[in-house]
Amino acid sequence: MCSADNEAQRQRRTTDKVIAIDGPAGSGKSTVAKELARRLGFLYVDTGAMYRALTLKAIGGNVDLEDAEALTELAKVVDIQLDMQGEALEVKLDGQDVSGDIRQPSITEKVKFVARIPSVRTEMVRLQRTLAAQSQGAVLEGRDIGTVVFPNARHKFYLDAQAGERAKRRHKELTQMGQQVSLEELTKEINERDKSDMEREVAPLTRAADAIYVDTTHLTIEQVVLKIIGLCST
Ligand code: DC
Repeated sequence: MCSADNEAQRQRRTTDKVIAIDGPAGSGKSTVAKELARRLGFLYVDTGAMYRALTLKAIGGNVDLEDAEALTELAKVVDIQLDMQGEALEVKLDGQDVSGDIRQPSITEKVKFVARIPSVRTEMVRLQRTLAAQSQGAVLEGRDIGTVVFPNARHKFYLDAQAGERAKRRHKELTQMGQQVSLEELTKEINERDKSDMEREVAPLTRAADAIYVDTTHLTIEQVVLKIIGLCST
């Protein structure tokens, strides 16, 4: 059998065991995806953490964020490890724990420069597909999972919530992490991020035609998790 057939078979096997979750910041997708993965015994892949880690590496190495070629070279060699430690995701960049550093506002602001480069995304997508293929099952969350990373995933969800509610959730999350940001600033940041995620040319945040839309504004995490598990088992 030729290698293209093998690749097609591998893709099919993988897409059967993938749950794709996309949505804007604060839609609840990280918490929901993590909990889903825990209950199903699946791998949890926070793809936003990968773009954040690469941004941190670029900044740490004084790489010009306008230099697509240099950023692509970094993306080819970067070592990003995602591991659950109890309830928390540990993100390692070249062997160093950067779980807190990648959530700093300075990184949040700059991820867009890295995420908009097609060749950088190609490398990240390759890594995401490999992680899922090596797992027994995976929940991937991000902006382009159902549209680009796994367009043939069996289960696709698009989580959303009203902007005010999303800002409140982020505020609570960041306050718990010891970061002090006003709700007003966060609302502005969320609106700007939505705009840049949705309007970029490559892999913009958009709902895949076959993704199930879940408005989480008035739902608890538990309700969303149960809803998704229910829908996945039908
Ligand atoms: O999910 P997050 O807020 O940690 O993601 C940070 C940024 O990374 C987000 O604003 C856009 C980018 N991102 C992306 O372009 N594609 C993904 N699959 C995940 C995140």
